[in-house]
Amino acid sequence: MISNRANTISPSETLKITAKAKELARQGASIISLSAGEPDFKTPAHICNAAIEAITEGFHGYTMNTGIPELREAICAKLLNENRLSYKPDQIVLSNGAKQSIGFAILATINPGDEVLIPAPYWVSYPEMVKLADGIPVIVNTLFENDYKLTPQQLENAITAKTKALILCTPSNPTGACYTRNELKALAEVLEKHPELIIFSDEIYEYIVFEEEHNSILNAAPQLQNRTVIINGFSKGFAMTGWRLGYLAGPKPIADAVAKIQSQETSAPSSISQKAGLAACTGTMKPVEEMRAAFRERRDYIVEALRAIPGVHCFSPAGAFYVFPDISAFLGKTDPEGNPVETSTELALFLLEKHGVAVVPGDAFGEPAGIRLSYAASMDDLKEAMARIRDGLSSLT
Ligand SMILES: Cc1ncc(COP(=O)(O)O)c(C=O)c1O
Repeated sequence: MISNRANTISPSETLKITAKAKELARQGASIISLSAGEPDFKTPAHICNAAIEAITEGFHGYTMNTGIPELREAICAKLLNENRLSYKPDQIVLSNGAKQSIGFAILATINPGDEVLIPAPYWVSYPEMVKLADGIPVIVNTLFENDYKLTPQQLENAITAKTKALILCTPSNPTGACYTRNELKALAEVLEKHPELIIFSDEIYEYIVFEEEHNSILNAAPQLQNRTVIINGFSKGFAMTGWRLGYLAGPKPIADAVAKIQSQETSAPSSISQKAGLAACTGTMKPVEEMRAAFRERRDYIVEALRAIPGVHCFSPAGAFYVFPDISAFLGKTDPEGNPVETSTELALFLLEKHGVAVVPGDAFGEPAGIRLSYAASMDDLKEAMARIRDGLSSLT
């Protein structure tokens, strides 16, 4: 009954562990979830008010397939003022979230058999989206020593005659690592030698950066603009996950192809969310700055707490709201009941079932040596979670 296409992809591991944590909590267990990929803040009031206004004013209908012109113009202004990138509104396609934008950008450009380079650890959906387009995800392993960032040599070695695209994610989910301008420049030097290669640059965590300003590959290498698709959205920076609003900015032929696919699959995102997005783009950035400051404080806390656990190695990530410690020292050990803990998945299940903390195993992201902890949680919860993790890990022998 089920198509081969559907059968080739796996359900999201992140959603699986979150569902299991919810089920245990429903049964009465005390569970702290550090597994979710969403801010624990509410959407800022001025954004909610714009949506309420849209509803009361009767802005209820379908909008243009690519989104309302004033929001696409506002996104162009944002790209110019904040990112120093020049786009026209007809290069912007609004969508029901960055997830949809990436999926449709892949469908719009990847032919069966095309290879798409995905540095690991990767966001869980990338390989599955490539498979849905009958492309071949080529996983490029990166190293903890390099904060899990792709190096020019790794990129060069992975490119073949069949390589059609590279997916870059900065700040990264799941590691929080951010490429510096110079690192992006070095990658761009390799990309320049391969003029057919498309770059998908997922910048959804752009507003959650702590060390230096956000860098897009296009800031480092503006000459790549005619083959780079920037993907962004409102979910993370503005705490708007449930509003389902994202966008891409790309070369006109790709934007047109994505718009064509979108017109047949989903049409434009919700009219009300678009008005909310307009308020987000044009209104005060104070709430975003406050959220960033809170995330930074939590990052500092969680990195220090993790480093204090013997055997755990953790770099301090420059962005997003995740840490991705190396826990390989614990794999191959045994829990107090005599059960072996061989993989990061088994370790995550042990922490969830025996110590009430939900984290996502690195296996889900293509890096078996790590686990992902989201610190989109209150400081109290983080402190309790870290105590539980320390107890859990130190009980393994
Ligand atoms: C790296 C990355 N890209 C894209 C998305 C999708 O975001 P959206 O809510 O806009 O679909 C996520 C959400 O988890 C993400 O972590």
